[in-house]
Amino acid sequence: MRTSAQWWKEVKADPQRLTAWLQRQYVGEMAAVNLLSEVLTRYASEATEGEWHTVHKVMCQEATHARWIKKVMDDRGIKPEPNGSSDRRYWKEVLPGVTNFSEAMAAAFHAESMRLERIRAIAADEDAPADIRAVFQKILPHEEWHEEVFNKMRKNRELTKYHDKGLRALNLVLT
Ligand SMILES: [Fe+2]
Ligand SMILES: [Fe+2]
Repeated sequence: MRTSAQWWKEVKADPQRLTAWLQRQYVGEMAAVNLLSEVLTRYASEATEGEWHTVHKVMCQEATHARWIKKVMDDRGIKPEPNGSSDRRYWKEVLPGVTNFSEAMAAAFHAESMRLERIRAIAADEDAPADIRAVFQKILPHEEWHEEVFNKMRKNRELTKYHDKGLRALNLVLT
């Protein structure tokens, strides 16, 4: 079993993997903006005014994360993926399980929890490249807040079956 710390150790030691991973982070943050925009488009009638504003705020923060990651890439001379796509394996597996606002919030909660493991490992790593660590230290409190608010808005809704399928799709083991 690979922990987030082991996974990160491998990625940071391999410049090619690190570059590809940074490019994927950019795409991932932009994909989150798209997905949340989709949620607000499809399920706006079910969300309270407060919930709508919370999802909108999360969406804006995800766009800001994309900008921060883009800056790291620019400073390192890394170009974003040509024809990058926000099509994500995890979401492809999970989205069929989403039919309403609280299920969308459950899916978002699981996705945030999963990614938080990795973000925490990077933010805590004193040997991480300084530019990357600094950005992830800034991202971490936002993502913790996202997990918290999605957890509230999912109203105890579970998506375990779809989440497990999504995890398998990512070939990701979190401990
Ligand atoms: Fe983010
Ligand atoms: Fe997030």
